[in-house]
Amino acid sequence: MKLLLLGKGGQVGWELQRSLAPLGEVVALDFDSTDFHADFSRPEQLAATVLAVRPDVIVNAAAHTAVDKAESEPDFARKLNATSPGVVAEAAQQIGALMVHYSTDYVFDGSGTRPWKEDDATGPLSVYGQTKLEGEQLVAQHCAKHLIFRTSWVYAARGGNFAKTMLRLAKERDKLTVIDDQFGAPTGAELLADITAHAIRATLQDPAKAGLYHAIAGGETTWHGYARFVLEMAQQAGVELKAGPQAVEAVPTSAFPTPAKRPHNSRLDTTKLQATFGLRLPPWQEGVARMLRETL
Ligand SMILES: NC(=O)c1ccc[n+]([C@@H]2O[C@H](COP(=O)([O-])OP(=O)(O)OC[C@H]3O[C@@H](n4cnc5c(N)ncnc54)[C@H](OP(=O)(O)O)[C@@H]3O)[C@@H](O)[C@H]2O)c1
Repeated sequence: MKLLLLGKGGQVGWELQRSLAPLGEVVALDFDSTDFHADFSRPEQLAATVLAVRPDVIVNAAAHTAVDKAESEPDFARKLNATSPGVVAEAAQQIGALMVHYSTDYVFDGSGTRPWKEDDATGPLSVYGQTKLEGEQLVAQHCAKHLIFRTSWVYAARGGNFAKTMLRLAKERDKLTVIDDQFGAPTGAELLADITAHAIRATLQDPAKAGLYHAIAGGETTWHGYARFVLEMAQQAGVELKAGPQAVEAVPTSAFPTPAKRPHNSRLDTTKLQATFGLRLPPWQEGVARMLRETL
């Protein structure tokens, strides 16, 4: 089997290089790859890449993920998040490939407290959310055999992340202020990559499993709860902090104005994913604790 991985250097793309490897030969590309074109700002070149590689499975982890920047460059964000995934999906359909794509809780308006189900009405609050919604719609329209995973609050051990920022600030400052009115579940890139590999195998065996799924870690928290957990873990590991977990002050979203509006309710209902693929989604604390053990 041959797999084409797009966006290989991102948080999820990096972990996919590992999790897809046992499934077959992986052709992994980034926007500056030279052997094949995989620059999502040039959608016109992408079909040729898919037709030349002729993979059985395409996994697209490339995206414009700079949520605030997207507000001032909507055309560019649309190219990366919608137009290009649509072009790849058309080419995937042409060669009969399964296309895997990622979307986000930002397709919802964040109202209420109930976890969102796959078929709930969408209502993006930002350019990022809107263009990601258009992207998932184009993928579903153009490629019958697709898996789309909506996820949230993604972190990885590699590169920067929220937990590392909190640790740095807690070493420098006596007090941290962190938002406590946005609810969601921090989700590890490695968990998403592993879910993807399992779901690909199952969907190739039973194409009826193709579709849209919510994929996040178990449980829920706020950014404030997440920050406190990180500092508790750090203290237990003997890291010296100026600001311990008790010194994390809870503030509302309005305390940190940003160009893009964020949803308050980012809870996603994962019942469909768990039932269809027979998977368990571990509590978010398990993945974050593991990432901290790797990075502390
Ligand atoms: N991060 C989150 O919290 C989050 C939440 C919900 C959903 N998601 C979704 O999950 C998926 C993976 O996200 P992630 O966290 O892994 O994002 P990420 O770390 O920002 O990775 C995005 C990837 O896209 C690549 N890219 C940027 N511009 C490109 C271009 N013009 N052409 C081709 N590739 C380009 C990046 O390359 P460079 O690194 O070289 O720029 C990077 O490899 C995305 O679909 C995202 O929307 C993420």
